Formats: sequence, structure tokens, C-alpha cells
Amino acid sequence: MVKKISTQQLVVGMKVHSFVDYQVGNNDLKIGTLESDNEIQTILKCGIKEVLIDTSDGVSTEAGQTQQEVERLLHEQLMELEGPAAPSPPDIVHDGPEDYTAQEWQNAIHSAARIGNDAQKIMRQMMDDVRLGKKVDNRLVQRSVGRMIGSIRRHPDALISLALLRDSDDTIYQHSVNVAIYLTAFCQSLGMDEQTIVDVGSGGLLHDIGRAKQLNDPSKKPGPLSSSERAIVEQHVTIGLEILDGLPGINRNTLTVVAQHHEQKNGQGYPNKLPNARIHKFGHMAAIVDTYDAITTHRIYHKRMDSHNALKKMLEWSPAQYDEALFEQFIRTIGIYPVGSLVRLKNQLLGLVVRNNRSSLLHPVVKILYDINKKSPVRPQTINLIRFRHTVEYQIDDFEQPKRWGITPMAHLPMGASAG
Ligand SMILES: [Fe+2]
Ligand SMILES: [Fe+2]
Repeated sequence: MVKKISTQQLVVGMKVHSFVDYQVGNNDLKIGTLESDNEIQTILKCGIKEVLIDTSDGVSTEAGQTQQEVERLLHEQLMELEGPAAPSPPDIVHDGPEDYTAQEWQNAIHSAARIGNDAQKIMRQMMDDVRLGKKVDNRLVQRSVGRMIGSIRRHPDALISLALLRDSDDTIYQHSVNVAIYLTAFCQSLGMDEQTIVDVGSGGLLHDIGRAKQLNDPSKKPGPLSSSERAIVEQHVTIGLEILDGLPGINRNTLTVVAQHHEQKNGQGYPNKLPNARIHKFGHMAAIVDTYDAITTHRIYHKRMDSHNALKKMLEWSPAQYDEALFEQFIRTIGIYPVGSLVRLKNQLLGLVVRNNRSSLLHPVVKILYDINKKSPVRPQTINLIRFRHTVEYQIDDFEQPKRWGITPMAHLPMGASAG
């Protein structure tokens, strides 16, 4: 059985299954049976607070929680976040029960896809230019973020859904665009002024610009990185700041995002191991968004997680790594049931979330695709759960894995035809 315990409860002979506050790609800690106190000290020195141990094959303990208990608690914690959202600017709040019609949504997705593709082209060109020693054109970056702001203001879900569902190209360009989209939406949900959103969103596009100069990027290789390889990867932050240094029109908030997107609340981040008090709000926001995109995208060293599992995982990391209030607001920005999630209703119908109602995160619009009782697919029918919010049978019971039911989300969503 796998149990989660505090690292303070570790003793020699326990078998480490994995670490909880564990940055993707950080692999120099020993997994397996602990053979000495020194090994435990190394784990504690890294600032890791929680660990999963395998009690079926090592020293066991009464302490801690089983994986099922942990999962259930995290799920409940996530659901509790449905409470009143933090203030949003009035122009992105929709008030009718139906946020927008299916046709409007389709148009929004097509326009968002264009904005995303154009931003990717700009990133590709800019990184090529940086490699050739040319300067970054900050006006293009800002214009691109300006278009994202417009799209999110008109249709809050469209760009976010695309960022989340487009998994065809794991490239630094797509990652940079996704981080900019999430950061822009995040800033808007916090009611920031337009210029600040442009500056922070620009930081999203530019946050990994340093990687343009790292032609043999070790983070692209499968398997664990050695400590020297990790040191190379970590240099991308400093290189990025050098590229942007003195650039006309570059804003301090943009540079903060670039400088702090790998810093962590527990002081274990890089490049400066900044303590929490010295990490700017925009640095915290960038770290949240950067990790979310990394784990919801297929990478060579890990499989992509769906949004629900990614948010649960990050909720677990949150006390050590993120500003918790900001992380909760990020969950509200993304939505508990983002577009493309498959959900099981209490009446045993399976529905694919096709869009969200901002007025209630718990009641999205779903396309009913399968009847578990009848063990068969049904004629697809789109229903707005907000209209059934007082009907118990139409409440969402839980998430389901689309693969298990032979469902391909993209085949049922307008972005399936727009991606490319
Ligand atoms: Fe980075
Ligand atoms: Fe990144």
C-alpha cells in the first residue's frame, strides 16, 4: 500500500515511492529503500515536507494517509473552491443562464485559434532572431498579448480551452503561448488594469526566451537529468534576462515574470532560491502557470495529465511551492471542469464539457455521449447543466477517463477542426 507521510516521520528501512513536493525533471533524490540516516537528512535538507512510501515492501507506519484518502481529500478541497469567486472585472462576467450560443462559441474558438497560431509564429520568428543575435521586437509581443486580452474578454473560455487541449506540438513556442494565455486570463480574473495585463502577459510569452540560445537543451532528453545538466537547464532564466536587458519598451513586470518563474515559496526554486517574502506576486503567478502547462502537456519525460489531476497534484504541492490564495484563484480561472473533461452525472450519463458557465463553475454545458446503465453510446445531445441545477440526477458525480469509454474529446469539440 502506498501512504503519504511527513518527511519528519521517515525512518531507515522505509521504501520511498515518490516525493510530494517534487519539481518535474528534478531527479537526484533516491527512490527506493532508505539505507541510512544520511539519506533521510538529504531529503530533509531539500525542504521536502511530504513523501509517499510503499508499506507493502518496507518498514510501515500507522501515521499518514493512504493514496485513496489523499485523493478524496484533494477532490473535496477542489470542489470547495466553487464558493464565491474573487472579484472579476464586470466586462468578463456573464449574467444570463446561457453564456453564449453554440454558434458564438464556434466563432470564438475559430478566432482564438487564429490568435494562438499567430502568437506561435511570432515566437518562432523571435527565437530564430535571437539565435542570430537580433533584438526582440517587444511591440510584436505586446500586440499579441493585446489580442489575447480581447479574446478572453469576449469569450473567457475559448483561448484557455485551446491552450489546454492542443497537445499536438510540444514545442517551446506552444508552451510560451500557453503560459501567456493562462497568465493573461489569470491577471484578468484578478481585475488588473490593461497595461499591467499586457506587461505580465508579455512576460508569459518571453519567460523561456533564454532557451532560444540553448541549442542542446538537456531538458529534451528522456530520463533523469544529471546535476550538471540541470545546471545548464537552469541557466535559461539568466540568459533570458540578458537577452531582454535594456530592450526599448520592456517593462519591469515583464522582467519579473522572466526572472522569477522558477522560484518557489519554500526558497528551493532557481536561479536565486528567493525566500517567499522576496517573490513578487507576478513571480508566484508565473510559477503556477508554468507548472500547470508543463504537466498538462505531453513531454518526453512524462505523460500529460488531465486538468483535474494536474490541479489536484498542484494542490498537494501548493503549501510548499505556491502562494495558496493565488493558486486557488488560478483554479477558478481555469475552471474546475475545463472544456474537454468527461464527467459522470448522478443519472449515470457521461457528458463531455463543451463550455463553462462563469456564473457557476459546477454547472457547465455538457454533450451527453454515453449511458452507463444501458452500456451504450447515446445520440449526442448538448445540455446546459445550469438549467438543471436543482435536479439531483443532473448533478456531476465525478470525473471519468475518456479512454475508458472509447471517447475522444477532440472529435466532439469545435477546436478539433480548428487546431493546426
Ligand atoms: Fe522556464
Ligand atoms: Fe516555461
